[in-house]
Amino acid sequence: MCGIVGVTGNDNAVKILLNGLEKLEYRGYDSAGIYVNDQKGQDYLVKTKGRISELRSKVTPDVHGSTGIGHTRWATHGVVSVANAHPHFSNDDRFYLVHNGVIDNFQELKAKYLSDVPFRSQTDTEVVVQLIDKFAIEDNLDAKAAFLKTLSLLKGSSYAFLMMDREQPDTLFVAKNKSPLLIGVGDGFNVVCSDALAMLKETHNFLELMDGEVVTITPDKVAIQDADGNAVERKPFHVDMNADETDKGTYPFYMLKEVDEQPNVMRKLAQTYLSEHGEPQIDDKLIAAMEAADRLYIVGAGTSYHAGLVGKRLFENLAHIPTEVHVSSEFAYEQPMLSKKPFFIFLTQSGETADSREVLVNVNDAGYPSLTITNVQNSTLSREATYTLLLHAGPEIAVASTKAYTAQIALEAILAKALGEATGQIVAQNFNIRQQLGLVATGMQAIVDEKDTLEQLSNDYLMKSNKAFYIGRGIDHAVSLEAALKLKEISYVQAEGFASGELKHGTIALIEKGTPVIGFITQAKTAGLTRSNLQETMARGAKTLTIVRESLAIEGDNLILPDVDEMLMPLLSVVPAQLLAYYTSLNKGLDVDKPRNLAKSVTVE
Ligand code: AGP
Repeated sequence: MCGIVGVTGNDNAVKILLNGLEKLEYRGYDSAGIYVNDQKGQDYLVKTKGRISELRSKVTPDVHGSTGIGHTRWATHGVVSVANAHPHFSNDDRFYLVHNGVIDNFQELKAKYLSDVPFRSQTDTEVVVQLIDKFAIEDNLDAKAAFLKTLSLLKGSSYAFLMMDREQPDTLFVAKNKSPLLIGVGDGFNVVCSDALAMLKETHNFLELMDGEVVTITPDKVAIQDADGNAVERKPFHVDMNADETDKGTYPFYMLKEVDEQPNVMRKLAQTYLSEHGEPQIDDKLIAAMEAADRLYIVGAGTSYHAGLVGKRLFENLAHIPTEVHVSSEFAYEQPMLSKKPFFIFLTQSGETADSREVLVNVNDAGYPSLTITNVQNSTLSREATYTLLLHAGPEIAVASTKAYTAQIALEAILAKALGEATGQIVAQNFNIRQQLGLVATGMQAIVDEKDTLEQLSNDYLMKSNKAFYIGRGIDHAVSLEAALKLKEISYVQAEGFASGELKHGTIALIEKGTPVIGFITQAKTAGLTRSNLQETMARGAKTLTIVRESLAIEGDNLILPDVDEMLMPLLSVVPAQLLAYYTSLNKGLDVDKPRNLAKSVTVE
């Protein structure tokens, strides 16, 4: 959950590191630091609590160099402090290290090898850098050998390291296990980053690293060595993304930009995965593998899990295949009984979520086929699943996921349509997905054009309350969960997404005068029931607000959504909820894009 950058062979090292860290702030933003060396005996370490802007203000004009490493932290071991910020360094100032991930046995290693070593921080990372130094001195090892010896002792679910040695100041040493790390190949220089986004201004050519490899990088060479010590040749892949796509332009926050981009994402998915006549264009082998399954298992975390709940309805209705949806952190350690021929679908915007990856590792060990639906080309879950479908949503930078959620649902609908057609389901044949996604895009546009109304509703309903409920039935309930998550994570309002019929079985006791209760009414079968449940909360003092599909609307409803196919209504009903959360956070003066305690990419279990 931290961001790592490095560069060697470029006199603009400080600028490259700081710009790169800014792009990686979504991975963690509680403290940061850089170490640079100018190859002439000068080196600098700058660390701070807080954001990259704080770090920038601490980097004085004399700080310069051509090789360096940087880090933005999301604390795991140790409080947020300058001492715990990376880079960490050995007591003799020789080795400097940045690290993403967790070393499970750091206490044992510290007790066994370093009982006489004074420590400055509470981190597992400092144990690693002191160990490297110890082995270099006591075993008379060079930097790479000491690094390798240390790596061989580590137990950790996932980690990525980037190290420098003052005795080889133009060299970067890299190793990773499960955690993402890429090497960018420049003209006369090379870079390292947790995500290609960070280095798109420097290069579009990246090398991926495999677990267990150790890489030595100098300005003109990238030497990869596999776990058995063999040299590995690997060609870079091209990242086809414009650096400008990662800027927020005139928007005050990425989240608002990403909410506004949703109509275009729908159109892009239709262009990518549907023919002119609306026929799905999905890899035949993938469809055949799904057809051969007797049950689909959708696995995801947070918002991606919520998109899976809607996907269940799509796969069961359009393709008639039983579908289960699971939270990845639960599935990984409490695997349910599986059907005879399971097929796994991993939903993950980042493609790096450690909880989901843990399930995929088990799925691969068992030899089951899988598909990753992700926004990030070449991400870990994409590489390791049997099949990948990309969301083509463009980079999602705000911690609160918006366009990835709607893209996941739209792509699930396309896939369910393709599968349903393959298995001869009439309902799938009659489902005009191209036309529907067109209607969805137009409908989304109409909603995002109503920002003033949504800001007003946020003021009237959510600004003065420290709790709120989103309720609904069926897929309206699934959207309630996502709506509540959005509100919680960026506005810190205690929000619950609830099955409306279940309220009266206990939770309605929490309703008091003025409690905001927001009801989703988009499904004909359950509309009347949800309205009754809203009445029940009103009778206990709740302040209710309705988000209703046009054909089901009655006088007095608050927000009317354009009509699209019922199965796709979540694509529209979630948008007002995203904007309600946005304005509540904004008007509370919070950092919408970087809420407290959170990071975008959760690479620890
Ligand atoms: C939602 O707004 C969050 N950012 C979070 O729930 C996120 O969806 C979750 O961590 C899963 O991430 P992934 O889609 O990248 O796997």
